Amino acid sequence: MSLLAQAQSNSETIEVLSPNGQVKVSFLLEHGSIYYQVGFKNMPIINKSSLGFELLDKPQLAQNFKIVASEQTQVNQSWQAVWGENAQVENNYTQAIIRLAQQDQLSRQLNIHFRVFNDGVGFRYEFPQQPNLTSFAISKELTQFAMAENYTAWWIPAYRDQRYEYQYLKSALSSIDYAHTPLLMQNKKVAVAIHEAALVDYASMTLKLLTDNHKTLEADLVPWANGVKVYAQAPMSTPWRTIQVADSAVQLINSNLILNLNEENKLQDVSWIEPSKYMGIWWEMHIGQKSWSPGPMQGATTERAKQYIDFAAKHNIKGVLVEGWNKGWEGNWWERKPTFIFDQAVDGFDLAQVSQYAQEKGVELVGHHETAAGIAHYEAQMEQAFAYYQKHGIRSVKMGYVGTRVDGGEWHHGQFMVRHFNKLIKTAAKYQIMVNAHETIKDTGLRRTYPNMMTRECVRGMEYNGGSPDGGNLPNHTVIIPFTRGLSGPTDFTPGIFNFAYQEKRPNNRVPTTLAKQLALYVTIYSPQQMAADLPENYQDHPAFQFIYDVPTDWRKSIALAGDVGEYLVVARQDKHSEQWFLGATSNEDARNLSVQLDFLPKGQKFKAVIYADGANAHWQHNPAAYQITSQQVTAKSNLSLQLAAGGGAAVQFIPVN
Ligand code: NOJ
Ligand code: CA
Repeated sequence: MSLLAQAQSNSETIEVLSPNGQVKVSFLLEHGSIYYQVGFKNMPIINKSSLGFELLDKPQLAQNFKIVASEQTQVNQSWQAVWGENAQVENNYTQAIIRLAQQDQLSRQLNIHFRVFNDGVGFRYEFPQQPNLTSFAISKELTQFAMAENYTAWWIPAYRDQRYEYQYLKSALSSIDYAHTPLLMQNKKVAVAIHEAALVDYASMTLKLLTDNHKTLEADLVPWANGVKVYAQAPMSTPWRTIQVADSAVQLINSNLILNLNEENKLQDVSWIEPSKYMGIWWEMHIGQKSWSPGPMQGATTERAKQYIDFAAKHNIKGVLVEGWNKGWEGNWWERKPTFIFDQAVDGFDLAQVSQYAQEKGVELVGHHETAAGIAHYEAQMEQAFAYYQKHGIRSVKMGYVGTRVDGGEWHHGQFMVRHFNKLIKTAAKYQIMVNAHETIKDTGLRRTYPNMMTRECVRGMEYNGGSPDGGNLPNHTVIIPFTRGLSGPTDFTPGIFNFAYQEKRPNNRVPTTLAKQLALYVTIYSPQQMAADLPENYQDHPAFQFIYDVPTDWRKSIALAGDVGEYLVVARQDKHSEQWFLGATSNEDARNLSVQLDFLPKGQKFKAVIYADGANAHWQHNPAAYQITSQQVTAKSNLSLQLAAGGGAAVQFIPVN
C-alpha cells in the first residue's frame, strides 16, 4: 500500500441514524484522531468535535487510533417505570459500538458507544480490561461540543459557591464561561440540551466555553480538591454524554432519553417505594417564625408535629417532615464543622411517640438528615441513622448538604460526592428508605436503576422566597426550571404557598406568583414527592386546598403541551391510578390568555373540568391571593380558554362523568 493510501485508509466515517432517520451522528477517524458530529433534520447541530482523554502521567488517549471493529444494532423496547411521569417508557434507538486501539507499543483500547434516538444522542466511552491500562487518573476529558450556531442559551454558572441554586441566565452561547448542565440552547428552528446520564463513579460534567471560537463547549469535569478529575480502573465506562434535540424546547420536556440511558431497576422488592405528598415543619423556619435551633424558637416539638399530622391525616397528605428534630442544630450550624447526631432527639421532641402517633393516623413521619456538607461525619453514622429510622417505621428521608464545599475542600459535583451519593442511595435501599436530597449532585436518571431515589432539590427552590436576603426568586423562574433543571429529573421545588403575608420577619421577601400558579406548579414541575409547603393554619378550610388534596404524584402519562422558555408552560398528566387528568398552566411576569386544545383526553368521554384560576384582578405583586374556582363540561374536542394573571397560572382537574 502506498503512503497516501495508508493515510486515506486512516480516515473513516461511520454514520449512525436514529430509527426515524432524523437524527444523524457521524463518527470520524482522521489521521488517528477521533471526532463526532450531530445533525437533526439535515441541519448541523454539533460540528466536528473532538473525543478522547488526557491521563495523568501517561500518554494521551486521543491520537494514533485505528478502528478495530464496529457494529450497529437496532433496539426497540419499552419498559415499565416503578413510578414517574409515564408508566411505560418507549426505548427505541440505533446503537453503534466502535472499537478503537492505539497503534503504538501500548496498543491501548478505547470503545465508543453511541445510541441515537429520535429525540437525541447519548454516547459514552468504555475502557475495556487490558494489560496496558489498569488503574489510571483522568486529568482531562477531551469531549467537545462544537455548536453549529451561536444559540440562545439558558444556563446557571458552575464553580460558584451556591452549588446549583441560581436564577437562570439567558444569553448568547458565546457569553457563557462555565455552565452546569442541563444546558439548554435554542434558536427559531431547534432546541438542544446537553447533559449526562448514569453518573455513577465519575466526576460531573460542566461545560466550558472555548474563547477562541465562542461556540465550542468543552467537557469540564469537576475536580477533586487535588485537581485530579477522575480516578478510574479498567474495565469501566464513563457516564453518557447526552444531546437532546427537538423542534422546540417544550418538546424536550417530553423526552425520556436520559432515563433510557440508565440501567434497569436493580432493586428486587419495590413494594415499599411509594410516591406521595408531604408537609412539614419547614416553611415556618424559612420565614423566620421558628428556628432549627433548640430553645424558645424551636420548630421541632412533639406538639407541633402532631398538629401537622392531624391536618395531614384529614387532607390526603401521606408524609410529615420535621426539620431540626435531632441533636446538633444549635446556633449557626452551617458555619461550623457538623455536630449532628442522627439518632438522638432534641429536648421537646419525642420521635418514637410522634412516629407512633403518625402511624395510628395513617400518616408517616419523613426523616431528615442535614449534613452541613460534612460527608465523613455523616457516613460514620449513616447505617445507624437509616436503621434507626427503619425501626421507627420511617420510609422517607430528606437530606441536606448546606455548605460551599463538602468536607471542607471538595466540590459538590466532583467524583468524591458522586461516590458518596451512590453509597447513600444503596444504603438507604438496604433499609427500605426513599431519598429526597437537597444540595446534592445533579440528577442523571439513576432513579430508573434505584427507584428509591425519589426526588432532589438542586434548584433555587421555594426556600429562597422565604428567607433569602435577596428577596426571592423572579416570577419567570418557575417557567424556566422545567425546560432546564427539570430535564434532568424530578425537582423538589416545594410549591403550595397560600399565605403571601409573611413579611413580619421577612419584610423584603415574597412569593413571586399568584395562588393559582402555586397550584399549577404541582403539575408543571414534576416530583414524585410533592410538598404542600405552607403551614396547616394557612390551608385550614381554604377551598383551593382541594386541588392539593386531589392532585396525584404518580402518573400514567405526561405531556408538555405548549410553552416557551421563560414565558409560559402548559402540561397535562393522567393519574396512574384513576381516569382523571390534571393540567397546569403557568406564566411569567406577564398576563396572558391561553387557549388549550383538550385533544389529549380520551375521545368520546365527557369530563367535568374543575378550574382553579386567577381572580379577576390577581397579580403576583399586588393581589396574589385572588383566585376563583369554576367548572364546566368538556370533551377531547373542547378548547379551554385560560386567563393567566401577571405571575399567574391555572390548575385544572378533569373528572370523568357518565
Ligand atoms: C437546605 C434545604 O434546601 C432546605 O430545604 C432545608 O430546610 C435546609 N437546608 C436545612 O436543612
Ligand atoms: Ca437548598
